[in-house]
Amino acid sequence: MNNTSPRHRWTYAWLATLCALSAYYLYRAINYRYFTPAQQGPDFVAKQFWYVSHLLFALPVLFGAPLQFIAELRQRAPRVHRAVGKAYVIGACVAALTAIYLGGTGQYEGSRLSIVLTGLLWLFFTLAAWRMAVARNFMAHRAFMIRSYTLALVLVWLRLMYDFQDYLFFYVKNADLRDTTREWASWVLPLLVVEFWISWRPQLSNRQRLS
Ligand code: HEM
Repeated sequence: MNNTSPRHRWTYAWLATLCALSAYYLYRAINYRYFTPAQQGPDFVAKQFWYVSHLLFALPVLFGAPLQFIAELRQRAPRVHRAVGKAYVIGACVAALTAIYLGGTGQYEGSRLSIVLTGLLWLFFTLAAWRMAVARNFMAHRAFMIRSYTLALVLVWLRLMYDFQDYLFFYVKNADLRDTTREWASWVLPLLVVEFWISWRPQLSNRQRLS
């Protein structure tokens, strides 16, 4: 008998959607960067090494994270949860550090601060999630994992906003300003939504007030 609760069903549907979007935008990003001539940077040390490391370490993050939110898997196979978690933490830390380098030295000046901040926050959320797991504070662990995964999905948010930019940023006519606005919006907006959901809303609710 299938006794998955409606809440879990919504979570799984949402995770499946995120996986599909991740696969689609990852395919486009790889196609653009690794299979388009002259997009790899001038030499191996300057860029290519960083692009390849960034991608390799980001892969377990992108496809490992959704597994971590499946309650049944956590309960029935805690070892799998721990193994995927370790791969996630190592992958996210290296991917964040390489992102900081790539973004900080990137050609778009307006994007540099935004990407470096995203990378630093991604690193912080990931390490905080790991520390909270070790300390067995699972409420805080879950909250920091959600924050970390939200930032990892900048890969998706940024490109989704690019595809719909004529609707989302129609009021920004200058192309460079539009790029910068999109770069900031791609992580600030998802993070605000997540903070509202996991932090502000519970604090405003009666349940939280009583406890
Ligand atoms: C797990 C999630 C992620 C995956 C799978 C991923 C994958 C990729 C891929 C395939 C590329 C090459 C395509 C391109 O250059 O446009 C790339 C580039 C890049 N990524 Fe990520 N990424 C992820 C998360 C992030 C995050 C969170 C940041 C920001 C901190 C970031 C920053 C960058 C930067 C700065 C570049 C180079 C862009 C450029 O040189 O124009 N990535 N990433």
